[in-house]
Amino acid sequence: MQDHDALTERQFGAHARAYVESAVHAGGADLAALTARAARVAPKRALDLGAGGGHVAYALAGVSGAVAAVDLSADMLAVVAAEAERRGLGNVETVQASAENLPFPDACFDFIASRFSAHHWRDARAGLHQARRVLRAGAPAVFIDIVSPADPALDTHLQAIELLRDVSHVRDYSLAEWGAMLAEAGFSVESRESWRLRMDFAVWTSRIGTPAPLAEAIRLLQQKASAETRSFFAVEDDGSFLLDAAMFIAVAT
Ligand SMILES: C[S@@+](CC[C@H](N)C(=O)[O-])C[C@H]1O[C@@H](n2cnc3c(N)ncnc32)[C@H](O)[C@@H]1O
Repeated sequence: MQDHDALTERQFGAHARAYVESAVHAGGADLAALTARAARVAPKRALDLGAGGGHVAYALAGVSGAVAAVDLSADMLAVVAAEAERRGLGNVETVQASAENLPFPDACFDFIASRFSAHHWRDARAGLHQARRVLRAGAPAVFIDIVSPADPALDTHLQAIELLRDVSHVRDYSLAEWGAMLAEAGFSVESRESWRLRMDFAVWTSRIGTPAPLAEAIRLLQQKASAETRSFFAVEDDGSFLLDAAMFIAVAT
């Protein structure tokens, strides 16, 4: 039996290339906004926390002196290092670590971004405290993630389909939970923006290698769900649906 981090590492490591090639991750107005916020700082040293396929790190490399791409998965980081080299980005360094236990001294970064990763962390509160610890006071951090609806029934449906899709799923936090966790970790929120993302069912499940019986269980859950749930997530005939995402731009207090 594996511990949580080993489970997460295996889940993502096996599908590293899919995350480099994923259109949802490679683009988006949020990635452009994050990069624009970093460009205002022109960081000497930026951190991409939960780098996945590395799209944030590649974007930050153009506006920063150096970028550390941190991820739990060594296989994911090997793909990021190769892709950074292919793109001629000599200022991207890869570091295998968990967000909850960052191997960096206090206040050594002047910009942090974390995109679509915190919902996988075993302990998001600890990860945010670590992010705050390694960020210089007054410097910005951008956190982007899937967010859960405040309504308990909708929240339960979302967490259930996420867990069936990916056994290493921990929790999509609500906007209120994010706000509280950021404040507790020592961040003050400068701005918050939300939007909806359409998940194509086949692409969403194949990206992480969801076994067929679990993908079928998601389809069954969607079909048996209440009219309110189906309508909220705009579930389509093939299981494709809408997710809420949010971007918090925060400053280390
Ligand atoms: C969906 S991918 C991230 C996508 C990427 N940030 C982007 O914008 O394209 C999620 C990543 O978080 C990593 N991860 C999960 N838990 C982690 C943790 N506790 N610490 C660091 N990385 C973690 C996974 O290994 C995976 O590579």
